[in-house]
Amino acid sequence: MAIVCKSTAEIERMRTSGRIVREVLDHVRALVAPGATTMDLERAAEKKIRELGAKPAFKGYYDYPCVLCTSVNEEIVHGIPSEKRVLKAGDIVSIDCGVVLDGYYGDAAITVPVDESVKPEVRKLLEVTEASLYKGIEQMRVGNAVGDVGAAVQEFVEANGFSVVREFVGHGIGTKLHEEPQVPNFGARGQGARLREGMVLAIEPMVNFGKPGTRVLDDKWTAVTADGSCSAHFEHCVAVTKEGPVILTQ
Ligand code: MF3
Ligand code: CO
Repeated sequence: MAIVCKSTAEIERMRTSGRIVREVLDHVRALVAPGATTMDLERAAEKKIRELGAKPAFKGYYDYPCVLCTSVNEEIVHGIPSEKRVLKAGDIVSIDCGVVLDGYYGDAAITVPVDESVKPEVRKLLEVTEASLYKGIEQMRVGNAVGDVGAAVQEFVEANGFSVVREFVGHGIGTKLHEEPQVPNFGARGQGARLREGMVLAIEPMVNFGKPGTRVLDDKWTAVTADGSCSAHFEHCVAVTKEGPVILTQ
């Protein structure tokens, strides 16, 4: 399957989906506090998505049961919201949300400290991960390669002493949640598919405090760091245009 390029009109529709995702994430982020459960976040997100007239993209995707992925501390991605998972002081939580509106998808993620007591070195992990996302986005120019995006993320993350996850990657997005190409957060400059006008990619660095290794829990979804160190995740959907990268999930 080839990489699908989107028209200006399609990109505008994806911007609408992207704005909804952002509104949901902003709404949910405000509820993050010690004592809240990840299911509290899930319920608030589902209500908000429906209020805004969209549909959740993750629920039912390969039988995933929820509208959010909520990944706490050493959980990297695909943590399943649960009534039993109570957020504590000092925790970090990644919130990943996808929606579909009129056939077009939006997908974004943030990682937030649960309170002020999160250790400074873990706060730095969040800052570096978010900044690495923008390093990748900067490379999303016509004529650059997918490998330029991954290389920029990886170089920045490793220069800061953290490591990028290899087993989970970003992706094309449009009329499906996951389209071609895969967008690794590592790689070599000049490698992989060339970027063309109208491509829309979800760039989503997952960065571990310690070593890059991962494993998946018995629930078959939750990916965690092999060494038990914390992990952060930030994601935007970004269009390649003649004028440069345009973030659709603002
Ligand atoms: N943002 C993640 C991704 O693009 C979330 C997908 S979760 C799933 O892979 F539940 F939909 F699988
Ligand atoms: Co994604």
